[in-house]
Formats: sequence, C-alpha cells, structure tokens
Amino acid sequence: MDMKIAPSILASDYANLESELNRISTSDMIHVDVMDGHFVPNISIGPPVVAAIKKVCKIPFDVHLMISEPLKYAEDFAKAGADIICFHAESDDDTGETIDKILSLGIKAAVAVKPGTDIDVVFPYLDKLSMVLVMTVEPGFGGQSFMEHVMPKIEKLREIGYEGDIEVDGGINPETIKIAAKAGANVFVAGSAVFKSENPNETISLLRNNARD
Ligand code: DX5
Ligand code: ZN
Repeated sequence: MDMKIAPSILASDYANLESELNRISTSDMIHVDVMDGHFVPNISIGPPVVAAIKKVCKIPFDVHLMISEPLKYAEDFAKAGADIICFHAESDDDTGETIDKILSLGIKAAVAVKPGTDIDVVFPYLDKLSMVLVMTVEPGFGGQSFMEHVMPKIEKLREIGYEGDIEVDGGINPETIKIAAKAGANVFVAGSAVFKSENPNETISLLRNNARD
C-alpha cells in the first residue's frame, strides 16, 4: 500500500505559514488541525486561515475537525479548500448525516475516533469513507506520546476487509511509524517530528521509508 505522510501544521510557526509550507514541499497531504475550544480544550485556526494558505500550496489539504458541530461548519471548510474533511464520531452531529453533507460538497469524507472509542462505530459507513483516522493520542494538543494500545483497532479494520486509507495521528516519529504501519495504517500525521527537525523534507523521506520497511 502507498505510504503517505501528512505533516500537521499545528507544530509549525503560524507567523510564517507560507515558508513553513515550503519546508514540507514533499508531503503527500497537509494536515490542518481545527480545534474549537469546546470539543477539545484548545483553539487553533478556522476557515479564513485555511483559505489563505490554500492559495500558496498545491498539496491536498486533510482538514481534521476537532469541533463539536462539524455539520454546521463543513461547507465553510470545503469552500476554504479542504480536499478531505475528517470529523469525529464523538462530535454532537449524526455521523451518517455529516458524511453525506461532506460528500455533497464534492470532497472526500473521513471519520476519526478517539483512543477510547470502539472502532465498530465506523463500520456502517465504510463504503462512503475515503479514510478512517485512528487517533494515537487524545485530541487537543501536539507533542504527546504515541499510544500503542490502540493498534488492534487498525488491525480489526484491515481484518474486516477495509481497503481505504487508515490514518494515525499523534506521537508519530521515525520509530512509532513502524508500529503503526505494521498494524495496517498507511497515512501518517506528524507534527513535532517534522517541524521540530532541522530538515523537514528529509524527515518526511525518513518517515516514508520507515513506514515501507
Ligand atoms: C492532536 C492533533 C495532531 C497533532 C499531532 O490533537 O490532531 O494532529 O498535531 O502532533 P504530534 O505529531 O506532535 O503528536
Ligand atoms: Zn490532527
């Protein structure tokens, strides 16, 4: 399976987003973390910032909505330039309805599950999803440690024959990526590991190689 690296700009320098995006020019996707201070304690960025950076970056945008009301805001993020919208199964909105809304906007849909959520909640929707995001930390902050104990959720998804993308997010580095890839993940979000490194494009290449091993 194709291994894709999606650096999270949450770990980048928000004062210099355009040059930060140039440092990760070999990424497969740009992971944009959106936090509303309600679904998670933190607040990050919204549609105007996504629209602004979309103008200076051609790499597809993977928008991770850590917000309570994804149904209400999906259209704003699609218009801002999201290529895929990933929302949480634990949000306030109906999962099926939110997926249909995202698809009606002409973009791809993904569902995320927190570490404590059973993976079975996504099973009814797999035929409509391009990707499932299995969180490997509690959403809300960058720089946390990878939770290996969620790997059986990824294995279960592959066991039941899901062939779409499985993304992992949180604590991914050149070592933990091997564990997630072995379990069956093929899309890897990395914030700190990429942006806090001296040469982000070299780190992306190292991560990709380690995922392929
Ligand atoms: C956590 C975010 C992640 C975060 C990952 O709530 O969803 O995308 O930026 O950061 P690292 O790679 O530093 O764990
Ligand atoms: Zn994320």
